[in-house]
Amino acid sequence: MKPCKIIAIANQKGGTGKSTTACNLGFALANEGNRVLLVDADPQANLSMAFGIERPDELALSLHDVLTLILDRKDEEPLPDKSEYVIKGEKLDIIPSNINLSVAEVNLRNEVGGERTLSELLEPLRSEYRYIIIDTNPYLGLLTINALAASDSIIIPVSPGLWSATGLTDLIQTVFKVKRKINPRIEIAGILLTICDERTRLFREDKALLEESYGGKLKIFRTAIPHTVKVGAANKASRSIIDFDPSSKAAQAYLEFAREVADNG
Ligand SMILES: Nc1ncnc2c1ncn2[C@@H]1O[C@H](COP(=O)(O)OP(=O)(O)O)[C@@H](O)[C@H]1O
Ligand SMILES: [Mg+2]
Repeated sequence: MKPCKIIAIANQKGGTGKSTTACNLGFALANEGNRVLLVDADPQANLSMAFGIERPDELALSLHDVLTLILDRKDEEPLPDKSEYVIKGEKLDIIPSNINLSVAEVNLRNEVGGERTLSELLEPLRSEYRYIIIDTNPYLGLLTINALAASDSIIIPVSPGLWSATGLTDLIQTVFKVKRKINPRIEIAGILLTICDERTRLFREDKALLEESYGGKLKIFRTAIPHTVKVGAANKASRSIIDFDPSSKAAQAYLEFAREVADNG
């Protein structure tokens, strides 16, 4: 098996399609025969619910609990067996989250090396997966820093009409800060346009502006994810759009996008 790639899906703006992208990129890569682990690093647990976990608050062991165990353990004390916190699905696996994770921002801040806690959890899992995909919360806090510290690359979903140049600049500066200080490996894989209505002038104007501002420095993925009402229906049904309606435009776009990600090496 090729070496594992850990990818964070991040943008501190809410509603840019992060959770939808984490879910569908994961399912698309699994469809191609890859071993995939999803990691839900957002207390809102949208990714866990999309995976089919109906009541994240009733989980016996969520990401929050494992991170707390890592923070509190003495030196080489072993973690619980991963079968206790990795939930296996038919096609791919997940480490789910729930609202308890919201206290992690504080707990991680108060510990030496707190920004590497997620990395400590994921490094030993590299040998079992080809891709580990981390969904993040809409905030440039310690949880997102943990995701960046653990990742080989970051994908930034941007929704035209919703994106802000300043927000993107803050995010990119944070990535470079993490690269300098914590994780020299991390690269920005690129910007993914999501929830797009390609027929509108707003889309064309925003896309042109994004290309003008960042096109020279960052990759903008060729595939754009179209706005498709079925995505909302799939989310409600706790399924990926790839399973829910494989022929929909959004499903086809995510499959195409996954090929771009895989070809990126
Ligand atoms: N391609 C799409 N077409 C239509 N609706 C979408 C699409 N992608 C995401 N959405 C919807 O937009 C909202 C925000 O998406 P989500 O992935 O939760 O964003 P984030 O995780 O960045 O907050 C959700 O209600 C989701 O169902
Ligand atoms: Mg989300």
